[in-house]
Amino acid sequence: MKKEANIQRMPFINTIVSCRKDGKDNALAVGFAANISFEPWMFMVGIVPERFSYDMIKDTGVFVVNIPAKGFEKEYGFIGTKSGRDVDKFKELNLNSEDGDVVDAPILTDCPVNFECTVVDSIKPGSHELFIGRVDKVHCDEEYLDDEGNVIWNKIELL
Ligand SMILES: Cc1cc2nc3c(=O)[nH]c(=O)nc-3n(C[C@H](O)[C@H](O)[C@H](O)COP(=O)(O)O)c2cc1C
Repeated sequence: MKKEANIQRMPFINTIVSCRKDGKDNALAVGFAANISFEPWMFMVGIVPERFSYDMIKDTGVFVVNIPAKGFEKEYGFIGTKSGRDVDKFKELNLNSEDGDVVDAPILTDCPVNFECTVVDSIKPGSHELFIGRVDKVHCDEEYLDDEGNVIWNKIELL
């Protein structure tokens, strides 16, 4: 038998979205994230305007979606609760990063998979602005790649 339930948050994938503006690197935890197109490849991330990262992404038009694995819980919690307004998360957590190859934003090399994205559109139907990013380049730790360059997702213990 069905009963009416509260509208509530569903389970989601844990991602970390990283960005850079005026030479400052920042990252936030984003649960509202999904692939939304195959041709071309696109990623959508939902970000609340109050986040420090929001203006960085809005103004630069680029971001990186990083997929963390098990073992990154402590860092994820920090990234998802502290603001770049108050603290340099990269410094505090000793995060390892590299510059994007295509976009001017940091890639979190501690995360096994990373998507470099350029914003092609955005809408704000509710609390979150949905930034739609074209995926320009995907990076993956070698151990999780097959011979054809495909990510072997079930080999990664996602957070
Ligand atoms: C599990 C989890 C999921 C989150 N998902 C989102 C999200 O989808 N969108 C968002 O704007 N904030 C989300 N947050 C909150 C931000 O990550 C958090 O407010 C962060 O401190 C913002 O950092 P910033 O101010 O440096 O941008 C999430 C936090 C956690 C812990």
